[in-house]
Amino acid sequence: MKDILIAPSVLAADFANLQRDIEMINSSEADWFHIDIMDGVFVPNISFGMPVLEAIAKHAKKTIDVHLMIVDPDRYIKTFATLGANVLTVHYEACAHLHRTLQAIKAEGMKAGVALNPHTPIALLENVIQDIDLVCIMSVNPGFGGQSFIENTYKKVSQLKELIVKNNANTIIEIDGGVTSKNAKQLVEVGADVLVAGNFVFKSENPIETISAMKKLLK
Ligand code: DX5
Ligand code: ZN
Repeated sequence: MKDILIAPSVLAADFANLQRDIEMINSSEADWFHIDIMDGVFVPNISFGMPVLEAIAKHAKKTIDVHLMIVDPDRYIKTFATLGANVLTVHYEACAHLHRTLQAIKAEGMKAGVALNPHTPIALLENVIQDIDLVCIMSVNPGFGGQSFIENTYKKVSQLKELIVKNNANTIIEIDGGVTSKNAKQLVEVGADVLVAGNFVFKSENPIETISAMKKLLK
């Protein structure tokens, strides 16, 4: 069985104890840090920006997976590379020239990701799938943590898996929003490789245990 990656979403951390929560992820079995950047325009919320990411990156010892929920993300590709992002994901809906954006991300030495809103069809990636390192399927409407999982996601994951295989691409599939131990297994069965989990991890009684149990469940 392939190793399924768990990416706790720092959006659900305690911002007054950020270093403590980052160290918790460092010492857990989690694989990535998922960092949600929102601009209040692409999504109806503002999370945190560059100085906070810089502070996180100082302590984070695992892959930094940055999810940009912002308009015109090309403006900040270089900045996020400098801040230490390893994976940079932009929204399909925010890019007029997606192919160019993906090349620009890779030119800065990062893996290039594309996120799809719940209403955005997988088929729109048909002509660019070979250039994408990661597709992030949004299983909630982006902007907030703690929302409930949209069931249509399973169908989209299967369609994406099929598109990847058909095109002989190396793209990995990430799921973001409302992920819990209730839907994790089925998501992996239909093709997911990376599971983002915010509230399910950070609001649990023992986040380290929760992450460990999730890894075990998916072995
Ligand atoms: C939503 C963000 C998610 C969010 C996930 O806009 O992209 O990464 O933090 O949080 P949960 O797992 O609580 O839905
Ligand atoms: Zn996210």
